[in-house]
Amino acid sequence: MTNNTFSNAATSTVNNGESILDIRDLRVWYKTYGGHVKVLDGVNLHVNKGEKVGLVGEAGCGKTTTMKAVLRILPHGRAIVKSGEILFQGRDILQMKDKDLQNVRRSGISMIFQEPTAALNPVFTIGTQMLDIIKFSLAGKKNKVGINYRDMALKAIREVFIPDPERILDCYPNQLSGGMKQRVCIAMSMVTPRELIIADEPGTSLDVTIQDQVHRILHKLVDKKGMSLIMITHSLGVAREMTDRIYVMYAGNIVEASRTRDLFERPRHPYTLGLLASVPKLTGHGMAEGIYGYIPSYLRPPAGCRFHPRCPNVMDICKEQKPELMDQGLGHKVACFLYGGN
Ligand SMILES: Nc1ncnc2c1ncn2[C@@H]1O[C@H](COP(=O)(O)OP(=O)(O)O)[C@@H](O)[C@H]1O
Ligand code: SF4
Ligand SMILES: [Mg+2]
Repeated sequence: MTNNTFSNAATSTVNNGESILDIRDLRVWYKTYGGHVKVLDGVNLHVNKGEKVGLVGEAGCGKTTTMKAVLRILPHGRAIVKSGEILFQGRDILQMKDKDLQNVRRSGISMIFQEPTAALNPVFTIGTQMLDIIKFSLAGKKNKVGINYRDMALKAIREVFIPDPERILDCYPNQLSGGMKQRVCIAMSMVTPRELIIADEPGTSLDVTIQDQVHRILHKLVDKKGMSLIMITHSLGVAREMTDRIYVMYAGNIVEASRTRDLFERPRHPYTLGLLASVPKLTGHGMAEGIYGYIPSYLRPPAGCRFHPRCPNVMDICKEQKPELMDQGLGHKVACFLYGGN
C-alpha cells in the first residue's frame, strides 16, 4: 500500500466529537472444557460520530470478541459478559430489549466479517441475500411506498465498483472471486443507511493488491456517507492509512490509544514498539525483529501487566499490579508503569 493511497485520514474526516459508541470496562470470558478463559479484561474504547478508529493487535488479542459483544452475537451459552457497558448513542446495548437491539442491527451498526465466503450463504443468490437485508433493515419503517428494493441493491453493488451489477445479483457466491465477494459484503453492510460500520480484517484472506482495493473502497464509502468506522486489523500499516485514531490491544486489554499520527511519531507502549519493529523493512536493513514469545493462555493469564512475560522492560511491579490507561497529553493514553502509575 502506498502512502498516497488514501486521503489524509487524520484531517479529512468529519468528526464533531459526539460519541456514538462508548465501551466501558468490558470483560468477557468463554466457557471451555479446561475452565473459563478470561479474554477481555476491562476494555475501554470510544468512537465519535464520523470518526475512523483502528483496533490493532496480534491474532488472539480479543478484537473480534470485543466487536461481537457490541452486536451481541457472541456464542450463546459459551460466552459470558462478566461486566461492562456498551453505549450506542447513549443507550447500553447489553441491557437492550430484543426490539431495540434489532433496531440497532437494522439501522445502527453493521459488521463486515473477515472471511466473505463464510459470511455469504452459498445456497442463495447475491440478489436474494441483499433483498433480505433490505427488507430486514426497512421493516417497521414508514413511507416505503415507491422504494424499489432491487434498485437499492443495484446501486449498492455499483458503489463498490463491480461491473454488470444486474448479473451479480443473479450469481451464487461460488461464481464470484474472493475480492468480488468481499466487495459484495461491503455493499450489503451499507445497502441501507448505517451510523457505524465494523470491519473485521476485511480482505485478510485476499492477496495484497485486492486487499488494498477493498480497503480503498471501504474508506471512500465511509467518508462519502459520513459514517463512523471501526477497522479491526493486525497490521499497523493498514490502520495508519485508514484511521484517525488507533487503539492497540494486547491480551484482552487496550494498552495504548492515540491519534494515528501521534502513535507513529511517538509510540510508547513496549508492545506497540514491538509491533512496529515486527514490520519488515523495505530498505533491506536487516530482518524485522518481532516480539519474543506468544499471547498468554487466557485460562491462567499472567498477573499484573499481561504483557510482562514478553516485555523487555519488565519491572517487579509489572508482575503484581495491572497498569491502567493514563493520559500522556493530547489524548495519547498508555497502560504501562514506565509512564507512571507506580
Ligand atoms: N467461541 C470461543 N470459545 C472459546 N474461546 C474463544 C472463542 N472465541 C474466541 N475465544 C478465545 O478468545 C481469544 C480471542 O479471540 P478473538 O476475539 O477472536 O481474537 P482476535 O480477533 O484478536 O484474533 C482466542 O484466543 C480464544 O482463546
Ligand atoms: S507495565 Fe511493565 S511489563 Fe507491562 S509493558 Fe510496561 S514495563 Fe512492560
Ligand atoms: Mg479476529
